[in-house]
Amino acid sequence: MTLKQRILDEIARQGPMPFERFMDLSLYDRRGFFGGEILRSEKSGDFLTSPEVSVLFGETLAAYVKGGKEEIGEPFQLVEVGAGSGSLLRPLLAVIDVDVIAIEVSPAARNNLSDIVEVADTLPIEVRGVVIANELLDNLPMALAQKIDGGWRERWVGAEDESLVFVDAEPRDGVLEWLAAYAGPVDDGGWVEVQLAARDWVRDVLGRITDGSLLIIDYGDTAENLRGRRRDGTLRTYRAHHLGPHPLDEPGQTDITADVNFSALLDIAPGAELHRQDDFLTSLGLRDRLHQLRHEELEAARSGDDMKRLELRTLKTEAETLLHPRGLGDFRVLEYRRFRNQAGPDTVQRT
Ligand SMILES: C[S@@+](CC[C@H](N)C(=O)[O-])C[C@H]1O[C@@H](n2cnc3c(N)ncnc32)[C@H](O)[C@@H]1O
Repeated sequence: MTLKQRILDEIARQGPMPFERFMDLSLYDRRGFFGGEILRSEKSGDFLTSPEVSVLFGETLAAYVKGGKEEIGEPFQLVEVGAGSGSLLRPLLAVIDVDVIAIEVSPAARNNLSDIVEVADTLPIEVRGVVIANELLDNLPMALAQKIDGGWRERWVGAEDESLVFVDAEPRDGVLEWLAAYAGPVDDGGWVEVQLAARDWVRDVLGRITDGSLLIIDYGDTAENLRGRRRDGTLRTYRAHHLGPHPLDEPGQTDITADVNFSALLDIAPGAELHRQDDFLTSLGLRDRLHQLRHEELEAARSGDDMKRLELRTLKTEAETLLHPRGLGDFRVLEYRRFRNQAGPDTVQRT
């Protein structure tokens, strides 16, 4: 039975489903986009994330983890949640020695990761160290709402002639509360992705960190800055590195994602800071590395070492991609720090 048929059957039995249920099945059912045996997060896959662009991403974040380890001391653990193919951890572990756990739900990704690190379903009850989640929160199931005649309506998933369609639904209390707090200014007809699961996830992780920090890296922005994207909303699909079909058309066959509303996350992480990815990676030395690569490329050209020059040029282009102000550099990094031996997260400077 196809996943679409399985969803249609559930709707026939129980009526329309909230969008977060549809997204959960589409991505994480065993026939879902991440649920099967195909590894999605790799260069040849459906989307290209920062660690898939370059080993420089993991290498640069190694400096952050190293700083955390020096500050906290042993025991210290690095936890990567939604670790995908392991493209962040491999280069990171090549430059620092650290105890690591990868948390993954995708069977294909878990298989790939188990060669390099311990893989688990959930985070340890207590974390003393650094937790990193790159492009995880945009994939957590979300509800959908639309502003109609000045009020909010939810958009659930129903069926019409064996096709999946959006249907109107009375907004639930939790959805209305989230919208009141974080939707920001939205014109009539505008769509908002209600990211309750992302907020719950952050709350849960913060409750586990006894000493250390959390880095959430993703596309998105504050509620205010997302205003211009609200007319059609930011929900979209990806397949083979391109925007895919309508999210209801081919469940399980495409990635479903939306911009992360960082206002909702900052609100529950007091003292957290929001950086741009280009600034954050620069503060960890990536721009210096880029200058060095340019210099070494010139040296290789002068000395006639073409292989070396090409290698350096590739790395240089990758560093530029990670820092591109209108591309990956425009991603956001939410950094939350909790260090027992310090006065408070907002008083701590990164080394
Ligand atoms: C867009 S991919 C990003 C993978 C990797 N972080 C990267 O940047 O290449 C999102 C990953 O998060 C995983 N994921 C989704 N929900 C999860 C959860 N609740 N716990 C752990 N992993 C999860 C998915 O299986 C998928 O591999």
